Amino acid sequence: MKKHKILIIGAGGQLGSELTQGLWSLYGKENVIATDIKDPQGILSQGNFEILDVLKQKNLFDFIKKNEITQVYHLAAVLSATGEKNPKFAWHLNMDGLVHVLDAAIEFKLDRVYWPSSIAAFGPTTPKQNTPQDTIMDPTTIYGISKQAGERWCEWYFRNKGVDVRSLRYPGLIGYKTKPGGGTTDYAVDIFFKALTNKKFECFLKENTYLPMMYMDDAVKATLDLMEAPADKIKIRSSYNISAMSFSPAEIAAEIRKHIPDFTISYNPDFRQGIAESWPQSIDDAAARKDWGWKHQFGLKEMTEEILTKLPELLAQEA
Ligand code: SER
Repeated sequence: MKKHKILIIGAGGQLGSELTQGLWSLYGKENVIATDIKDPQGILSQGNFEILDVLKQKNLFDFIKKNEITQVYHLAAVLSATGEKNPKFAWHLNMDGLVHVLDAAIEFKLDRVYWPSSIAAFGPTTPKQNTPQDTIMDPTTIYGISKQAGERWCEWYFRNKGVDVRSLRYPGLIGYKTKPGGGTTDYAVDIFFKALTNKKFECFLKENTYLPMMYMDDAVKATLDLMEAPADKIKIRSSYNISAMSFSPAEIAAEIRKHIPDFTISYNPDFRQGIAESWPQSIDDAAARKDWGWKHQFGLKEMTEEILTKLPELLAQEA
C-alpha cells in the first residue's frame, strides 16, 4: 500500500482541528502534519504541528519537498463576515493560497488536494430551495466570490494539469470543540456556548432565517469519504453540493429549550442578515450521494443532544 504523508494548512480553524483528528485515525499521527500561522491550541499540540504560511510560496514548496508530502488539505481562509471587513486581504489569502497549493500539486506530483468551497458561492438569484448542483451563482461577499473563483481554478487545474483536486460546498458547519471563526452561520455554534454559560443568546440573524447546516462529524466524514473515493468516482471537479439539515435560529433555540427549558433567545440582526439572505436555504446534494455514496448522520435533534451532552465537560475543563 502506498504511504500517505498528509499536510493540513489552516489546521487551527474550526474544521481543521477536527479534520486533523480524523486524519490521525485514518493514517496514523506520524503521517499527518498540521500547520497554521499561529501556535496550536488544545488537541493539535498532541500531534506533529508546525507553523506554515501558505502565502509564502517558497516556504510552502520547501516544506512539501522536505517532508515528502503526498496529499494537502488546504483549509486556510478568511470567512464571510470577517472577509467583508478586510476584502483585499480575504481575496489575497483565499485566492493566492489556493493557487500556491495547486502549483505545488504539479511541482511535487501530489496524489490529491482537498480544498473547501461553500454555500457562499451562491447568491441572491440562485434558487433558494433545494439549490441544484449546477445553477446561477452570483455571490455577493468577497468570501463567496473567492469560493466561486476557486471552484473554477480547481476545475481548470484538473482539466489542464491533471491535478486530482476535490472539493465540497460546505453548508454552515457546527462543532463545539473550537470557538466560532467569523462566519455568518456561526451563530449556530455560539448559541450552544451561550445556552450553557448564560442561558440566553442574542442572535445577529432574524428568527426565521433558514440556512443549510451540518454537524462537524458529518463534515469530517464527508471530507474523508470524498478523499478516499477512487478518482473515477469524482465526476465533479469544481465542488460538490453537500447537505444534512436546514433550520432557523428560532428552531435551534426551540431544540435547545428541550434540554434547557429556561433558555431564551433575542434578535438583533446586523449586516450578516443580508449575507444570510443571499444564500440558499436548502441544498440538493444528489450528485454527491450518487457519485461517491455521501450519507449524513446528524439532524438538528441528534446534533443538539450530542453537543449539549459533551460541551459541558469541555467548559468545565476551561473554567
Ligand atoms: N460558514 C461559512 C460562513 O458563514 C460559510 O461557508 O462564512
